[in-house]
Amino acid sequence: MTLYMFMFMFILVVFSSNMPGVCSVRLLGSLNHNTHNIFNVLKYGAKADGQTDDSTAFLAAWNAACSSTGSPVVYVPKMTFLINPAIFQGPCHSNKITMQVAGKLIASTDNSLWSEKSINYWLHFMNVIGLTIEGSGILDGRGASWWTEVNGKKTNQIGPTTLRFTGTMNTIVRKITSVNSKQFHINFDTCNYVEVEGVTINAPGDSPNTDGIHLGQSSNVQIRNIIVGTGDDCISIGPGSFNVNIEGVICGPGHGISIGSLGEDNALAAVKNITVSGVSFHDTQNGVRIKTWQGGNGFATDITFQNVKMDNVQNPVIIDQYYSPYGSPTKGDSNVKISNVLYQNITGTSASNAAIAFECSQSVPCEGIKVDHINLSCNDGKTNAQFLCRNAHVTAVDAGAVSPTPCL
Ligand SMILES: *[C@@H]1O[C@H](CO)[C@@H](O)[C@H](O)[C@H]1NC(C)=O
Ligand SMILES: *[C@@H]1O[C@H](CO)[C@@H](O)[C@H](O)[C@H]1NC(C)=O
Ligand SMILES: *[C@@H]1O[C@H](CO)[C@@H](O)[C@H](O)[C@H]1NC(C)=O
Repeated sequence: MTLYMFMFMFILVVFSSNMPGVCSVRLLGSLNHNTHNIFNVLKYGAKADGQTDDSTAFLAAWNAACSSTGSPVVYVPKMTFLINPAIFQGPCHSNKITMQVAGKLIASTDNSLWSEKSINYWLHFMNVIGLTIEGSGILDGRGASWWTEVNGKKTNQIGPTTLRFTGTMNTIVRKITSVNSKQFHINFDTCNYVEVEGVTINAPGDSPNTDGIHLGQSSNVQIRNIIVGTGDDCISIGPGSFNVNIEGVICGPGHGISIGSLGEDNALAAVKNITVSGVSFHDTQNGVRIKTWQGGNGFATDITFQNVKMDNVQNPVIIDQYYSPYGSPTKGDSNVKISNVLYQNITGTSASNAAIAFECSQSVPCEGIKVDHINLSCNDGKTNAQFLCRNAHVTAVDAGAVSPTPCL
């Protein structure tokens, strides 16, 4: 009998906790819970003097947030923090963790911190699920001495990416500004479900290897409304990229938006379902480019470039299957197969006469290249712009709406 009484009372308690009168208590509880969930780096010992390395404090705040439940927020107030290379490691307890950056993070100018151990990141987020990095904050890689003293002396130098993500899922990067990265600004490698929105990226046009956003082995990527001026590709899409949608980019200076390079060192490369639309390029080396190395294998397929404006671009539309920046191309009769590429509504001016150049592989010709509503002219207003093809199978939706005249 006492057992039944106990169970009855237990049920009563459970039900009463859902009754209206108890609501306010629960609301208060959740408010406390939220304020408790903000992890201000200052509370974890950050000095914010721009001179002392604050990475230990940042990692302590991160670790506390990462092991917390609810929706933890690491908060970086509007001050300046010197941060040495740091790994923000997941997985975290919560799958909704935010880093809110109001302040400015600056990297060390001591190049040996990276060059001696070949460290390829400054701020590295690893294996986190449901991470948002947002705010009006600035990440300043202070790359000037790296460009001249380290990178300028060696090709293919391993060096720090300002914001590197590996093995993450559901990542959002919003509004952040990245300036003067030592090498890449932002890199997603082995990530799934990525959103980048409203980000600004800035470095001098002659800074080496400072790609804006580089994707590798990553899928389901949305990049929207970003502004990139830098010394290398504004966006580069590497091997293993699938389902990528890029919409709204202002690019220049820089090397344009590039799929590749693919197939380096005879590697197998696969890229599929890439859409690039609503882009304006000004004073860039390339506009929309696909580049592969001779000797590689695999495919790049189902690619659309549309609604693109060119202003004084050296190679507005280019496929280069003879890419070889470090000397003569390796002779190989294999190559990455390029197929099903649509170029639509592309207008503006070219700085060279090669407005469109499809330089496809001899052994593996391009197939299913489609052009529609293109009007590109030379920026001097005199020279005839050219449409060049080698080993490319090109069709036009309406040949009359494509200028220069396509090689069909
Ligand atoms: C192609 O990628 C886009 C953008 O990520 C996605 O919405 C779409 O479903 C993909 N299409 C196919 C056929 O997988
Ligand atoms: C063509 O592209 C431009 C951007 O360069 C865009 O403003 C325009 O709406 C596009 N036209 C069509 C028909 O989509
Ligand atoms: C291309 O644009 C120029 C002006 O920039 C215009 O005069 C010309 O008619 C256009 N050609 C086509 C084929 O649309």
